[in-house]
Amino acid sequence: MQDELFRVLYVSRNRIEGPLDRLSSEIAGILATSRINNARAGITGALIVNSGFFAQVLEGPRSAVEKVFETIQQDHRHSDVQVLLASPITVRAFPNWAMAFVGRSPHHQHALAWLQTETGFHTGHLIGERLYTIVMEMAYSQEAGDVA
Ligand SMILES: Cc1cc2nc3c(=O)[nH]c(=O)nc-3n(C[C@H](O)[C@H](O)[C@H](O)COP(=O)(O)O)c2cc1C
Repeated sequence: MQDELFRVLYVSRNRIEGPLDRLSSEIAGILATSRINNARAGITGALIVNSGFFAQVLEGPRSAVEKVFETIQQDHRHSDVQVLLASPITVRAFPNWAMAFVGRSPHHQHALAWLQTETGFHTGHLIGERLYTIVMEMAYSQEAGDVA
């Protein structure tokens, strides 16, 4: 079915160079654009950033997710896009967020360190499931305000 609900989780290498405020302003731009475009397209999800990588969950009607993902993949602010999960879903995990921005707290950054160090960025379903669970927990704990 073309417009079934669909979810993609990918990781990519962050190619934004320069001082930290450059990264912050690029991220602010990505989030602002995403929130406008995604709301219009019926897409929800979450974005994680650190100096080394991005991870993003996109969910929504399959055609809309595929379209925005095509655009995202061509963005030179990242590279080496690797899809970890891609499947039809019945329920959205991030219904309230056109694009949640998660994982900024030191606690969360620490929780993400394994992605780079332990795995060396290997793809795989297990990593996808693990990362997906972490992203979801981060989004909900951030919303609940229980993370510094
Ligand atoms: C890691 C990353 C995630 C992005 N996520 C989204 C997104 O969820 N939605 C979106 O519209 N653009 C996203 N973008 C930006 C797109 O690549 C592209 O710049 C944007 O969609 C262009 O929108 P515009 O034509 O309205 O300017 C992302 C870019 C990067 C680098």
